[in-house]
Amino acid sequence: MTATGLPPSLLATLPGSAYTDPEVFTAEQQHLFEAMWFCAARLSDLDGPGAYRTVQIGRESVILTRNRAGQLRAFLNICRHRGARICTQDSGAVKRNFQCSYHAWTYDLDGKLIAAPNLTKMPDLDRVEYGLVTVQVKEWLGYLWVCLAAEPPSFAETVQQAVTERLGSLAAIDSYTIEALTVGRRIVYDVRANWKLIVENFMECYHCATIHPELTEVLPEFADGYAAQYYVGHGAAFGQDIQGFTVDGSPGFEPLPGLREDQDRRYYAITVKPQVFINLVPDHIIFHRMFPLAPDRTVVECDWLYTNEVVATGKDVSRSVELFHRVNQQDFDACERTQPAMSSRAYRDGGVLVPSEHHIEAFHQWVQASTGKFVPTSGCAKPED
Ligand code: FES
Ligand SMILES: [Fe+2]
Repeated sequence: MTATGLPPSLLATLPGSAYTDPEVFTAEQQHLFEAMWFCAARLSDLDGPGAYRTVQIGRESVILTRNRAGQLRAFLNICRHRGARICTQDSGAVKRNFQCSYHAWTYDLDGKLIAAPNLTKMPDLDRVEYGLVTVQVKEWLGYLWVCLAAEPPSFAETVQQAVTERLGSLAAIDSYTIEALTVGRRIVYDVRANWKLIVENFMECYHCATIHPELTEVLPEFADGYAAQYYVGHGAAFGQDIQGFTVDGSPGFEPLPGLREDQDRRYYAITVKPQVFINLVPDHIIFHRMFPLAPDRTVVECDWLYTNEVVATGKDVSRSVELFHRVNQQDFDACERTQPAMSSRAYRDGGVLVPSEHHIEAFHQWVQASTGKFVPTSGCAKPED
């Protein structure tokens, strides 16, 4: 037994309340989703000036758009007059400005206030000062990342560092040319589970043999329970008879141009905290973005990215989409089966991590240190009557 009261092969998880408590979730919104770089949209979702998407990041609704020069812009979705929401749709396009539907204050695509009823009678009103509140943006891997913090953390030391820590180098992801790929399929999952359950699930493969028959067929080493994320720089090898990363192991497409030889016939997985999973296989990328909306609800947007040639020529992507779509459904079903137990007395002090899951403890410690919420438990307390 260790000081925690657990045998050495086990580590404690977070207590159940970490997955249900609204106060914990608020702390996560404030200290994680609103403070870190958050991957909000694929650049192709914003295909020209005035095209917009609205996304929920922490407690804020954010408008993503392009200005007249095509540059990316992000604003809080709040009118500076009396606070009405500007965009009420998830996506759309405006010609040249955003107009509030309450008293018609009107903002250009850079957020500047350009018109309002009787505006000439208020010559002292500074139009930039009373423009939409701007949010910082960054482009990487063909995605728009935004940060609500006034002083964002270093992108290199957070987002890109997560990739380096997993793959061994940042250059290893460049050969996949993710920024040049095209969305061949997008599936949006509305998962009734806490976002941390989804992260933990993605980080381990102890469950692979039980719930992922198709995936373990393609990646036989996953049947042993050790996820690719357990090791630095490790990609899980395809099985000998497997021709492609498809639901039945049938051939996929040509390897992505520029792919290194040692990256062929391998699967790599990366978690970019707090809300991105990147899956690399030779001929496509599966890119997950989570939008945590409530303690027990997370919307996951999953993109399957292929070369433009594959998408433009209408090649059949269904067999490769089907493999990870099934994996997603299997994983999210497991997370949804787990969520109700988080409020059970049986889980008041949490559960345990087996050796192949021990690396998840670092994620728990990170959440805890970042939010200042929930203390470690002994992991061995008995439920009380
Ligand atoms: S609240 Fe938007 S114009 Fe009044
Ligand atoms: Fe899984």
